Amino acid sequence: MIAPSILSADFARLGEEAAAVAGPPGEGADWLHVDVMDAHFVPNLTLGLPVVQSLRAATDIPLDCHLMIEDPDRWAVGYAEAGAHNVTVHVEAAADPVRIARDIRAAGAKAGLSIKPGTPLDPYVEVLRHYDTLLVMSVEPGFGGQSFIPDVLDKARQARRLVDTGHLTLVVEIDGGINADTIEAAAEAGVDCFVAGSAVYGAEDPGRAVRALREQAAN
Ligand code: DX5
Ligand code: ZN
Repeated sequence: MIAPSILSADFARLGEEAAAVAGPPGEGADWLHVDVMDAHFVPNLTLGLPVVQSLRAATDIPLDCHLMIEDPDRWAVGYAEAGAHNVTVHVEAAADPVRIARDIRAAGAKAGLSIKPGTPLDPYVEVLRHYDTLLVMSVEPGFGGQSFIPDVLDKARQARRLVDTGHLTLVVEIDGGINADTIEAAAEAGVDCFVAGSAVYGAEDPGRAVRALREQAAN
């Protein structure tokens, strides 16, 4: 799956930017990745619920909301209620990640758990039983256009093994620095879903960039 990140899109034209990556299954974006930042958990501020609500009405692409915020215990369920397909919270910020997953699912969305590059996976394997997606960060969260951190591929491999051996049922998603140079290594590590911001919206034709990344990941 390919999930273009609108962090690198033109925020004044979000509806058009979503349309630019839409397309039939297997061709257009599978998910539209929406980076919510609060200037506390990360040193950047982006968008919140009203924008997600508007986007939900503007596109049929399932919204993959990545909450880089403090106190996700309080805010996550609102994004599920706003119609997000997937609501992902950071384990470093969550007080009760099992309860958050239950709340997100009860509100009708899939639950995602994200881990920063320096956060190990082992302590959270049991918690991940309650989740649908693991979002492995391959840059420090906060900004688009950063360089891929190859060390995180070990965690992607570890997650792949846990899924393939039946210990967990998860979509393994990776976020940060995914482009033509890095997507193949991530695919080899067993990643299912690739977030790409600058590689898609920095391209002249974002739709074509999505198709090219998908082809490379499948190689
Ligand atoms: C970073 C965000 C990413 C960002 C990725 O904190 O979570 O989703 O948009 O951008 P690129 O693909 O440019 O690294
Ligand atoms: Zn993200």
